[in-house]
Amino acid sequence: MKSPISNPQLLVSKPQANVLRVDHLTYAYSHQEPVLQDISFSINVGSRVALMGATGSGKSTLLENIIGLKQPQQGKIWIHGTLLQPNTLPQLRRHIGFGFQDANDQLFMPTVLEDITFGPRNYGVPPAVAMDKGRELLVDFGLEAYANRSVHELSGGQRRLAALAAILALEPDLLILDEPTTGLDPAWRRTLAQILLKLPTQAMLIASHDLHWLGKITQRSLVIAGGSIQIDTDMRSLLQDSRTLERVGLPIDW
Ligand SMILES: Nc1ncnc2c1ncn2[C@@H]1O[C@H](COP(=O)(O)OP(=O)(O)OP(=O)(O)O)[C@@H](O)[C@H]1O
Ligand SMILES: [Mg+2]
Repeated sequence: MKSPISNPQLLVSKPQANVLRVDHLTYAYSHQEPVLQDISFSINVGSRVALMGATGSGKSTLLENIIGLKQPQQGKIWIHGTLLQPNTLPQLRRHIGFGFQDANDQLFMPTVLEDITFGPRNYGVPPAVAMDKGRELLVDFGLEAYANRSVHELSGGQRRLAALAAILALEPDLLILDEPTTGLDPAWRRTLAQILLKLPTQAMLIASHDLHWLGKITQRSLVIAGGSIQIDTDMRSLLQDSRTLERVGLPIDW
């Protein structure tokens, strides 16, 4: 048997060990002070990570950089060891499921079922297979009676569920969700947590203000304040540290 050190596979460069790596990212909206400054972190296979921070702290801006909707002025993003840049974006997007903070930004097809099957069909999944998977997801998300309805006829919470179903239909390796529980009642928040915990997804990064819900599904927390990552720690211990949470503008019971 080869010794590990003689196996070149084990000497590959570091970014490939991570599902996601963000390196010294700085982002400013045009003609403004940077919203994010020198952000670095990585997420390994098997991690579920919370992205926390006060209103306006830059969570959505960071997530939109990670999925290539915004281009950082400085820094690099690696997904599965591949540098995110215009020529790698289409290939990398195939592996990322991204849920917008506003579910209305996600849904654009005439009916709910068409929205849920659009992504897989676009990536070449046979229509019958996409349809079967779509119907399964409609059941999981309590939307089977709405399959052929327009998304405009759904309630805010139902729209959120339809958007989540559409993201999961793509079976992403890396799941990035921006405020996924907005508009959901406690029973649906629980169901969503159960669905997420069962996914075979390699890694998740979830921005939310729903601290107790995050505590049930994520193991690690990144907290943005003042444009940088102020805290990168174990989620359970952070939720018990009310003084630190207060300091970063996240009082625990409010
Ligand atoms: N299109 C834009 N042009 C200029 N500034 C923007 C734009 N979008 C967001 N910002 C500013 O960037 C900062 C970060 O916004 P962002 O939406 O990333 O915050 P967030 O942490 O996601 O907030 P929330 O918790 O409210 O979702 C805010 O100060 C916001 O005003
Ligand atoms: Mg946001």
